[in-house]
Amino acid sequence: MSEFILEKIFERIDTLPPFPKTAQRALELLREEEVNYKELEEIIKTDPAIAANFLKLVNSAAFSLPQRVDSLLKAFMILGTEQIKLILLASVAGKYFSKDLTGYGVSAKDIWVHSIICGIVSEEIAQLINLSVEKRESLYIASLLHDLGKIILDLYTHLEAKKFYEFMETNPEDTFMEIEWLAVGVDHGMVGGYLLKKWEFPKEIYFSIRAHHDPDLMIQGKIPAIVALSNIIANMLGFSGGMDAFNYFVPANLLDIIEIKKESLEKLLPKIYKRGLLVEKFLM
Ligand SMILES: [Fe+2]
Ligand SMILES: [Fe+2]
Repeated sequence: MSEFILEKIFERIDTLPPFPKTAQRALELLREEEVNYKELEEIIKTDPAIAANFLKLVNSAAFSLPQRVDSLLKAFMILGTEQIKLILLASVAGKYFSKDLTGYGVSAKDIWVHSIICGIVSEEIAQLINLSVEKRESLYIASLLHDLGKIILDLYTHLEAKKFYEFMETNPEDTFMEIEWLAVGVDHGMVGGYLLKKWEFPKEIYFSIRAHHDPDLMIQGKIPAIVALSNIIANMLGFSGGMDAFNYFVPANLLDIIEIKKESLEKLLPKIYKRGLLVEKFLM
């Protein structure tokens, strides 16, 4: 991989639409002590794609709403602030994953489902370990957008697909990230991290995205560790983000960093799997 191509990859980042202002403004509102839901509804409605995704997801049963809702306002009244944030960010992810990633061999729907499941795993873990509200927002952003780098790299993995498969065959022990480095000279975590940094998100968020395939980096803090673990769990449960679900190396102390016991995590898995199936079924 020449420097020239690497430059081209980072140039491509500018062609991606920026993080939606609607979502930015909605997150700001949701940080207030007394959330004005009417205002929140008006803001979200300014982006029809986000508004439509929100209603679609909220009615998907994975978010256990007791009844079907046809208006954003009604949904806000039933959901808690944390759930609104999670669904809002899942709706934003859906806006970006609207085209199949042919280079990674994954459909738009599958990568969106994968991202939502990562968000759901993060939500479940955050609840289990009583993660603070501020940290949860960073966690949800990083989990739901962790594979965004794939959109930019897709073009290059597509171009280099032959090399990709060759490297996979000749280096069966390598991790997905190592194969990406061999074939494209960079990994989608790095590209995604760079993107979120460019969008001026806090370091905790872009670092977590940068780190989600890197065994040394993912153990540098609780948020990167949960994002990485969520990705591993989503892949292992079969909600794969394409050419991603193999040769996972789970660092021995990953669970210690998160302060979660293996047994507690195992107990969560059936619930996560069920919620994943509901999301998948609903988005078909
Ligand atoms: Fe990834
Ligand atoms: Fe992923």
